[in-house]
Amino acid sequence: MFVTQSSSRSAGLGAGRFSFQPPASTGIMQIEKNSRLLAIESSCDETAAAVVTRDLRVLSNVVASQAALHERFGGVVPEIASRAHVSRILPVIDEALSRADTKPEDLAAIAVVTQPGLVGSLLVGLTAAKTLAMAWDLPLIAVDHIEAHLYACRMAAGHDVFPAIGLVVSGGHTNLYDCRSAGDFELIGSTIDDAAGEAFDKVAQILGLTYPGGPAIERAARTGDPSALRFPRAFLKDERLDFSFSGLKTAVLYEATGIPGSTRQPQELTEGRVADIAASFQAAVVDVLAAKSLQALRQFGRKALCVGGGVAANTVLRSRLLAITEDIELYVAPLEYCTDNAAMAAVAWEHFAQGHVAGLDLDVRPGLVRRVSK
Ligand code: KG4
Ligand code: ZN
Repeated sequence: MFVTQSSSRSAGLGAGRFSFQPPASTGIMQIEKNSRLLAIESSCDETAAAVVTRDLRVLSNVVASQAALHERFGGVVPEIASRAHVSRILPVIDEALSRADTKPEDLAAIAVVTQPGLVGSLLVGLTAAKTLAMAWDLPLIAVDHIEAHLYACRMAAGHDVFPAIGLVVSGGHTNLYDCRSAGDFELIGSTIDDAAGEAFDKVAQILGLTYPGGPAIERAARTGDPSALRFPRAFLKDERLDFSFSGLKTAVLYEATGIPGSTRQPQELTEGRVADIAASFQAAVVDVLAAKSLQALRQFGRKALCVGGGVAANTVLRSRLLAITEDIELYVAPLEYCTDNAAMAAVAWEHFAQGHVAGLDLDVRPGLVRRVSK
């Protein structure tokens, strides 16, 4: 957890009357560039809050990671995640406001991630956001977690990056989108089983590496040979833009522990062998992600590629994408905005500018959303 302790300064949870009414149809609104937005993210296992200005300056970005709580299970346990969000959400918001030297009265709006994600986790963030919006009489803006991951590319670029193909690779998602604008994305491909990040986490567990698996595999792979083992690359020659990583995961499992029923003993999992398996696994994931991104760019005639999500932090993936997109504009989220954070929820400004404000009946939508369009 990055938050050491909650600041003694109260975020101002005082009584207030909620009078903000969503505008029926406001059209494009001009918002002063120094206006401040409080963004809240709790869709999975990071409790996060940020303060971001209209011109996308990140004044604070606080992330309380729950990795230590889930480590011994090798993946996120939803009930543990929800409970941890409950105890951390207010200190994290308090810290974000405090670091940004921002008082409730300095805020123009509150943004909250409402979809997709773990239902219990999402509800904690949404309840906090609704309560504060009501107490502080501020407009509430709903944000999609996926559009936020891709908006991290827009924030880093400093200019509009859409239309583009969007690749979101995280612990919960491996999706391709046709992004027409910041608030208009359509799902064009996704994993039919495990997400890429989930595969990294599970393979790390098989190899006895730490959680989260992505950084651990990447570290182990540095001394390994990526061509030592030829692992499967699903749908590579298929026109469909979908992914599958469960066969790859099983292939790693059999390589590491032996094929069930076989009399052949698996080779000992020495450090060198772990490195080779990790490097070969990583090479297979990177090959598929790179090939499917190119395929999507070709099929949809787009000239820009935006990549976000935790797996986008992988340096082998980043350099491969750079190498294959010479004639394409490549935008990969900066490292600090690859894994879950609230700063990227600043995409809410785009919705706010168009008058899209939620009411207090706003609810969460845990499932994958095929079309994000405001
Ligand atoms: O976006 P994120 O923080 O959370 C979700 O929305 O799921 O992504 C977390 C995932 C984890 O599965 C983690 O293992 C993976 O991102 N990850 C990586 C790397 N850093 C994090 N995967 C590969 N290489 C990395 N360097
Ligand atoms: Zn995410």
